[in-house]
Amino acid sequence: MLGVESSCDETAAAVVEETGAPDKPWRVRSNVIASQVALHREWGGVVPELASRQHLRDICGVLERALADAGIGWRDLGAVAVTQGPGLVGSLLVGLQAAKSVALSLDLPLVAVHHLAGHIESLILHNGPLPLPAVVLVVSGGHTSLYLMPADGEYHLIGRTRDDAAGEAYDKVAKLLGLGYPGGPVIDRVSKGGNDRAYDLPRFKITHKDRTPGPVGVRPPGFEKALEHRADFSFSGLKTAVLRLVQARDGRPFSDPEMADLCASFQRAVVDALLTRTFEAAGWFGAKSIGIAGGVSANSRLRADAIARGEQAGIPVFVPALSLTTDNAAMIAAAGLRRLRAGVTAGWDVNANASLPIG
Ligand code: KG4
Ligand code: ZN
Repeated sequence: MLGVESSCDETAAAVVEETGAPDKPWRVRSNVIASQVALHREWGGVVPELASRQHLRDICGVLERALADAGIGWRDLGAVAVTQGPGLVGSLLVGLQAAKSVALSLDLPLVAVHHLAGHIESLILHNGPLPLPAVVLVVSGGHTSLYLMPADGEYHLIGRTRDDAAGEAYDKVAKLLGLGYPGGPVIDRVSKGGNDRAYDLPRFKITHKDRTPGPVGVRPPGFEKALEHRADFSFSGLKTAVLRLVQARDGRPFSDPEMADLCASFQRAVVDALLTRTFEAAGWFGAKSIGIAGGVSANSRLRADAIARGEQAGIPVFVPALSLTTDNAAMIAAAGLRRLRAGVTAGWDVNANASLPIG
């Protein structure tokens, strides 16, 4: 399976093959990513128009490299999977048209993949099948969403952020602290050695009245609890609290130890909020495992705390390999294989969908 991903600011292509082994169904043959981080750094965030133009420049080379790294030719491919959405529509279109062209010219099946299904399947790509039912947190720059996975390939949204995604909070806080872009890896690094209790930052509390039902699909048993939106997240208040701290300094810069303390305190607040909700939801649904995927799952504290909490609660926690946390096409190829084997392929009229629902 050739996977293609271009939903945001990484142009990616990968080749993933089926192993036939139930405990590790897929193997990564190549995983090529052309990152646009350097291009967008100047602006402190992703500029959609620049992103689409850069995808156009990179896509052909990335595809050729993915085949070369896998040691195969075009005729060795069996199918093509591509991210259909959600994401930036101009960016999505580049990968989608490239994937369609490859599939059409080689007469191969085309599979359209939901970006977050890709992040979820990165867990199985790396760890093998998760004990089910599983609760999976997808936490990235664009999303903070909690899914119930009662069966392989079945994802039910049970909670999500009301405002900023966790990765977005990292990026915005890093920007207002003058730490650069993207913020996640920098704050993770600067936090090391900081006192995570130096600053008392707020944890969000969603009140009962706020728990209005959101758009949900099929309702698995026990879904009513989640419908009250107990599993939602919010990070904009935390970001504002850091902004107030900065404003109160009146331009006086933070010393290195103060910066480490502030980053560590911020990180503790984010990780705490993410894990508390995730473990609560796992309890409600009787989950046999927890998965954490997406760019923020690269965070060292989130990984360590999640595994520690899992040991305490007696529930295994799975994370992807670091190379599969941020956007990549290997996860899209894996999710594509799952769909292909379920008999789901796309027509040539399939279009990019910036707000594609999962399912
Ligand atoms: O999954 P991803 O590549 O793109 C989206 O689908 O959004 O995630 C990128 C996000 C960025 O917000 C970045 O700051 C964050 O993941 N990130 C991290 C770390 N590495 C990347 N956040 C916290 N700690 C990290 N080590
Ligand atoms: Zn992503």
